Order: sequence, then C-alpha cells, then structure tokens
Amino acid sequence: MTTLITNIGELTTNVVVDGDPCGTLTDAAVLIDDGRIAWVGAAADAPVADETVDAAGAAVIPGFVDSHSHLVFGGDRAAEFEARMAGQKYAAGGIRSTVAATRAASDDELRARLRGFLDEMLAQGTTSVEIKSGYGLSVVDEERLVRLAAEVTPEVTFLGAHVVPGEYADHPDEYVDLVTGPMLDACAPYSRWIDVFCESGAFTVPQSRRVLKAGIARGLAPRVHASQLGPGEGVQLAVELGAASIDHGTYLTDDDIAALAASDTVLTLLPGVEFSTRQPYPDARRLIEAGVTVALACDTNPGSSFTSSMPFCIAIAVRDMGMTPAEAVWAATAGGARALRRDDVGVIAPGSRADLVLLDAPTRIHLAYRPGVPLVRTVWKDGVAVV
Ligand code: NIG
Ligand code: FE
Repeated sequence: MTTLITNIGELTTNVVVDGDPCGTLTDAAVLIDDGRIAWVGAAADAPVADETVDAAGAAVIPGFVDSHSHLVFGGDRAAEFEARMAGQKYAAGGIRSTVAATRAASDDELRARLRGFLDEMLAQGTTSVEIKSGYGLSVVDEERLVRLAAEVTPEVTFLGAHVVPGEYADHPDEYVDLVTGPMLDACAPYSRWIDVFCESGAFTVPQSRRVLKAGIARGLAPRVHASQLGPGEGVQLAVELGAASIDHGTYLTDDDIAALAASDTVLTLLPGVEFSTRQPYPDARRLIEAGVTVALACDTNPGSSFTSSMPFCIAIAVRDMGMTPAEAVWAATAGGARALRRDDVGVIAPGSRADLVLLDAPTRIHLAYRPGVPLVRTVWKDGVAVV
C-alpha cells in the first residue's frame, strides 16, 4: 500500500539543500511505502500511488522528536505552580512529592496516564518521544517506570539519580551505591540511556560521574540534566563523557558554550521549564552563532514544565530565545533526532520513517506566528494516519 501526499506548499525535509538546513521544497510531494518514505520531489514529477492525499498548498514537516520527557508519574503539582506564579521559587525538592504519588499508583494507573500523554502529544505532532524514569527512586519503583516506558518507546532513560529520596537524605552516597548497583541491574534491560540531575540540591559532579560511568559500563549511553538552577560543571562532565545531550542549560558559562560547540553533544533547550518556573530564557541565538547544536523538547513533567506541546515550545523559542522559525522547527525535529542519535526520524528522505505532520497552515512559520492555535491537521506515524 503506497500513499502519495501531494500539492505540499512548503515541505521541510531537513536534508540540506543549497545551505538551507531545513531542506525546504515548494510544490512538493512525498511517497510513503510500507511505513517508510519512498520518494520525495516535485509534485509535478510524483509517481502514482494506491492512495493520494491532496495537501492543497499546506505545509508538511517531519513529526516532532521530543527527546526529553518524564511521562510516568502519579498526581500533579498544580498548587505548587500556583504558588510559583504568586512569587515562590522553583526548587527541585518538589520532585519528592511526585515520588510519593508515583509509588502509590498502580501499574495500570500509570500506564493509562502515560498513554493519555502520548495521545495528547501525537495530536500536537509529536511522533517520537524519549521517556525517563526518576519518580520511583527505589529498585522496584524505578524498574516499574522503565518497564512501562519501554512498552511505548525504544527511547527509555534510566534516571534513578533524579534526586536523593527522603529515606537517604542523610547518606546520599549510599543512594548512589543503590543507583549504580541493584537499581541499575533492574533497570538496564529496559533502558537505552543513563541520565543524572547534576545540580546543587541533586547530585554532585563526582556522584554524577559515578552514575554515568556505571551506566556506560552496562551499555547505556549518557545524557545529563544540568545548569538548570544555576551554573555548574555538569556541561563539562557531559562533554567529557561524550553524552548525546545535555538538557536545560539555562545558565551556561562561556567555557560551557565553547566546550559544547567543539563537541558532538547536543544542547537540548526546554522552554516550557523557563515558562513555568519564571526563570530567564536561554539565549539560543548566541548558542547557535557559537556553533552549538540545539534541540528543543517539552520536558513534560508535573513540576517544572507540564506542557506536552511542541508547537508551544517552538513559539517561545522564536518569541523569547532568538531562534528563527526555521531554526526552531529544525531543533524540534532534526535536533531532537540528533539528541537521540537517530537518523531515521526528524527527517523526510527516502528510507526514513514515514512520520509526518500536515499543518493547517501554508508555512511552518505559523507554528510560532499563531501560538496556541491547533494547527496540526494530519499526523502519519510509520506511514499510518493516526490523527
Ligand atoms: O527536568 N530537573 C529535574 N527534573 C525535572 C523536574 C522534575 C520536577 O520538578 O518534578 C526537569 O525539569
Ligand atoms: Fe527533565
């Protein structure tokens, strides 16, 4: 069964053409065959297919690749958000209240919630999602979270080192022993990535290095949460260990930026966090000019960023972080794929996965220009129209 999407007014392929990283084509068409892209080119040259979809001049982009989320948790923290909007500061300590709610929830409750978030994301154009554990913080609970995440995505991240749970508050190094020992043993079979929150109030640089190295020794690849609440050495650690991504980067030093620019480590910016914690937005323009590869992700979680909307994050990145609409859409698609070291998503090219979004708009610029408006008309995931 082949499907031709034709009369695409603006097609974002993310295959560089004439110096345009978005590989933008006009009056284009895409052929899908068996879940993969089979052909991309001018609508006038399109092959015949079993089924034809007329885009009527609208824009098509790759499905969003959301490379940072925490979707398996119980409860919410609406009251904490309300207090923050009234002037209270965000502190990572709130994570512990979600840990209590998550431990109290059954697998079925967590699964239903998780699937609800994925549907919500799909409806907003996200076709690939990375999911972290981190609200269990015991061997059995972290194992549950990675197991549930692995039911819905291959991009599972073990984040047992999210914060030190209350029961280990007085002896955090013993918690690191647990994370790098029995917890890693239980979680590694379900995980592709190892992550740590390297920040004052969470884990120190030596503790973070231990966690990441233990994960690497078990075949997991590193990614790091760092420089969210203040500057620190987490970025340098991520680069030193060849992490695929360092995420947050709200407070970066010049040395951090230079190290990132000289590395293969992607910087994943999370505008929903600055939005809902009232922290300053990072200057993405400066980062891009310095040569840093930037991705955008939602960081969906009940504490610092309870949005699952990539279009919302794109709008903020353009309005408040100095990205052009083209850069923001690239960062939310190809950038996310780079942050996950994937070359089969975030791109529309022969052989890639047929994950595409048809917008109710003539150009991707509308994603930032019309914030809050549901512009996602059709979503194909592995070649199947799911929205
Ligand atoms: O990515 N930075 C640490 N972890 C989450 C926040 C989790 C929470 O507040 O529940 C984040 O922002
Ligand atoms: Fe996070």
